[in-house]
Amino acid sequence: MDKTEKKKRVLSGIQPSGHLCISNHIGAMKNWVKLQDEYECVYLIVDLHSLTVNQNPSELRQRCYSYIAQYLACGINPDKSLIVVQSHVPAHAELTWVLNTITYLGELNRMTQFKDKSKKEKNINLGLYTYPVLMASDILLYQADLVPVGADQKQHLELSRDLAHRFNTKYSPTFTIPDPFIPKQGGRIMSLQSPDSKMSKSDDNPNNYIALLDEPSVILKKIKRAVTDSNTDIKYDESRPGLYNLINIYSAYSGQKPSDIENMYIGKMYSDFKNDLAEIIIESLQPIQKEYSKIFNDKEYLDKLLLDGAIKARYIASKTLTKVYRKIGLVKKIR
Ligand code: AMP
Ligand code: TRP
Repeated sequence: MDKTEKKKRVLSGIQPSGHLCISNHIGAMKNWVKLQDEYECVYLIVDLHSLTVNQNPSELRQRCYSYIAQYLACGINPDKSLIVVQSHVPAHAELTWVLNTITYLGELNRMTQFKDKSKKEKNINLGLYTYPVLMASDILLYQADLVPVGADQKQHLELSRDLAHRFNTKYSPTFTIPDPFIPKQGGRIMSLQSPDSKMSKSDDNPNNYIALLDEPSVILKKIKRAVTDSNTDIKYDESRPGLYNLINIYSAYSGQKPSDIENMYIGKMYSDFKNDLAEIIIESLQPIQKEYSKIFNDKEYLDKLLLDGAIKARYIASKTLTKVYRKIGLVKKIR
């Protein structure tokens, strides 16, 4: 890249709910790490989003710190990227209000994540419904060019693009239209016990997912128990969802192509494949876990990092919000 050329911006975020797991890592965070050199990156802990489901206040606070330490341990480098707690930048909530006023109810009614969550949740609150508007505000505030997420976020991103386009057309060009960045393989990692539904970090049954902080013995046990099928050969075949998913995980952590993995296991048994897979996951997570245990207790360091992230993020966000307020006709704030 030409040195005078401005770096494009990447933005993504994860809700501090449940345990960060390998699906978040494969679907999103591995790309976050890769994109750091080429882009100016902002990685959020979207704590306001997590309030849309019931939270225990002291656990939520602890979990936020734990997530920050896990972002760092996975390779997010604070010298290159901003790590920001969403609630530290008031402009997220402020822009959400403006975007609410240009979002149609029909658009929110179509959101599949809302439909799924409202089937499961007892507490179907307004925040859960307008969740995608807050996400659009996260993205548009920073004028993000690229948003690395898993495939499940595609519909939400489509809404962000539509809102940006709608605002730009109604007033004048203001927001960058963000592009999704979804891995071709690994964009949708499935549950270990029910491979027809996605692996989720908030699943009530821990056997469905592997958390980034799971101990080696737990990882081995979960992989051994993972549902496959009654065949005996190791084939990368979408009609065999359990095995297909395990090969995707194998491929993501070993860097080997599914076809090469198939070849390696010709004539071998599921148990051989599963033992190796568990080993590969354990080895990949070990450095992350080691690094995590060094950082997690250093609250002073984490707080300093968050303050730095918040100051820089507030500056970027306030530039966008000021522009938005001016364009829609609000009276200028006297400083
Ligand atoms: P969530 O767990 O819903 O907070 O998602 C955090 C990030 O991980 C988002 O970018 C999701 O798209 C991604 N993600 C969540 N679940 C999966 C999955 N099963 N496969 C791939 N990516 C996922
Ligand atoms: N909705 C995303 C999820 O459930 C989390 C999220 C919130 C997000 N704001 C974002 C992702 C902005 C990317 C960009 O995973």
